[in-house]
Amino acid sequence: MIYSIVAIGDPVLKTKAKNLAADLPAADLQQLIADMFETMYYAHGVGLAAPQIGKGVRLFVIDSGPMVEVDEEDREELEPPIKRAFINPVMVSETGEEWGFEEGCLSIPGVRELVTRPADIVLRYEDENRQVHEEAFSGMAARIIQHEYDHLEGVLFTDKLSAFKKQLLKGKLARISKGDVKHDYRMRFATDGKRR
Ligand code: NI
Repeated sequence: MIYSIVAIGDPVLKTKAKNLAADLPAADLQQLIADMFETMYYAHGVGLAAPQIGKGVRLFVIDSGPMVEVDEEDREELEPPIKRAFINPVMVSETGEEWGFEEGCLSIPGVRELVTRPADIVLRYEDENRQVHEEAFSGMAARIIQHEYDHLEGVLFTDKLSAFKKQLLKGKLARISKGDVKHDYRMRFATDGKRR
């Protein structure tokens, strides 16, 4: 099932997500994860967090494959692509040199801005079988995980921009929140159903 993606302006994107219950039936969890991957691929995203489909729980999925650079000479991937679900993640550490990358977000269509983040992370999380891992990530996988993890904390990449950049974007983000934006996947706006 493909979910509508919640646009910026909805309170669910500004709220810290709650841990996914340990007693959630495995079949329900598998279905939710499958639906999130389907929704993410449909929208041509590389990551999707549960709040973006209106669910305030600590779960996100990523597939860094489309973002992983290929060495043109050897036709080899420069880092292993990671396709995975992350449940109840805890950011253990963020270290290394900060680097900038133009990020986008399915909840903020048409906006791309340079965001600076530390290069290396260690994340503790449960996999789709609720097995706990503590694992180091770097490169594009770390970048996507940091972006999705922020969603669980109620933080959007636009929150991390300079006051000057935020001011420049203010009008555009307000228009997006009202649905005044081009998007080629199904979206849900906070103003839906209200008088505009
Ligand atoms: Ni996002």
